[in-house]
This record gives sequence, structure tokens and C-alpha cells, in this order.
Amino acid sequence: MQLETKSAAETRRVGRRIGEALGQGDLIALFGELGAGKTCLTQGIATGLDIKGNVSSPSFVIIKEYRGRLPLYHIDFFRLQTVKEIESTGYDEYICGEGVTIIEWAEKIEDILPEKYFRIELIISGKNKRRILFKPVGEDYERIAREVYENSGAGYLK
Ligand SMILES: Nc1ncnc2c1ncn2[C@@H]1O[C@H](COP(=O)(O)OP(=O)(O)O)[C@@H](O)[C@H]1O
Ligand SMILES: [Mg+2]
Repeated sequence: MQLETKSAAETRRVGRRIGEALGQGDLIALFGELGAGKTCLTQGIATGLDIKGNVSSPSFVIIKEYRGRLPLYHIDFFRLQTVKEIESTGYDEYICGEGVTIIEWAEKIEDILPEKYFRIELIISGKNKRRILFKPVGEDYERIAREVYENSGAGYLK
């Protein structure tokens, strides 16, 4: 399942649909280079979780928490290098807890991701274009991905 958005606003809209479809304990792993739109998509997801206020990149603090329909734990591993460093943040205590967890730079923990998670890859395909690839791992996330994909309104790709 692949979408292509033509603006940041469109990416946020896709995110909102994702946020609306999420439930307690869900985990989203975002892959993609700097500027690919991971934070932008996360802002949309936050809107879909009824979170008011600004969601910004948590790069400096690693984990930020927001309150909405469900709690959102927004994690960014950009600044961390080793798996050991990452494990020392205690990030895994959030995963599958009460809220929704979003991880930016999931590349850095690819090998230790849990059995089921919603894998989303973002690719820069033009100045204002981003490809968004849904690669859900596990049945629950397949259902969510399909639902969002079919209602996204963003450009479909094969
Ligand atoms: N289609 C698009 N989707 C998302 N962001 C876009 C798009 N087109 C341009 N942009 C810009 O790309 C940047 C993405 O930044 P950000 O979401 O912080 O990326 P990341 O968190 O992956 O580093 C923003 O400045 C945004 O305005
Ligand atoms: Mg970011």
C-alpha cells in the first residue's frame, strides 16, 4: 500500500486518518531520512487522537508525551547511536501500554522491534512530494492500514 502526498498538509491529513483508527497499545514505527515527513505525519496522527496544541520534534528530549483521546508517546531516536543507548532510555515501557507510541528513526531499533507494529516508510519523491508506504506487521495493523489507505483521498500508487 503506497500513497503519494503533494503537500505537508496532505501528509497531515493521512496522519489524521491513522490517528482516528488507532487504539490502546498501538505502535507506529516511522522510517525515512531527515525531512521525509515523519514529524509531519505524527502531527496529523496527534490530531486524529484529539490532541490539541503543537506537536514538535522531540529530538532533544527523546520522548514527549501528549494527552488526547489516548495518551501519545512520541519518540525520536535521531540523536541516539547504539541499541544500548536506546535501551537505556526505557522507551520500551511505553510500548503496548495505555497509549499510542510513535517512533521516529525506527531504523535504529529495527532489530529489536516487537512482533507486531505498524511500519510506515516515508520517501522524498519531489520537492513537495512524499511517498508513504504502509507495511503493517500483524493482522491488526493490516486492518488499520487498509482502512486508512482506502479512505485517505491521497494519490494512490500501485
Ligand atoms: N508532501 C509532504 N509531506 C510532508 N512534508 C512535506 C511535504 N512536502 C514538503 N514537506 C516539508 O518537508 C518537511 C518535513 O519535515 P519533518 O516532518 O520534520 O521531517 P522528519 O521528521 O522526517 O525529519 C517539512 O518542512 C514539510 O513542510
Ligand atoms: Mg522528525
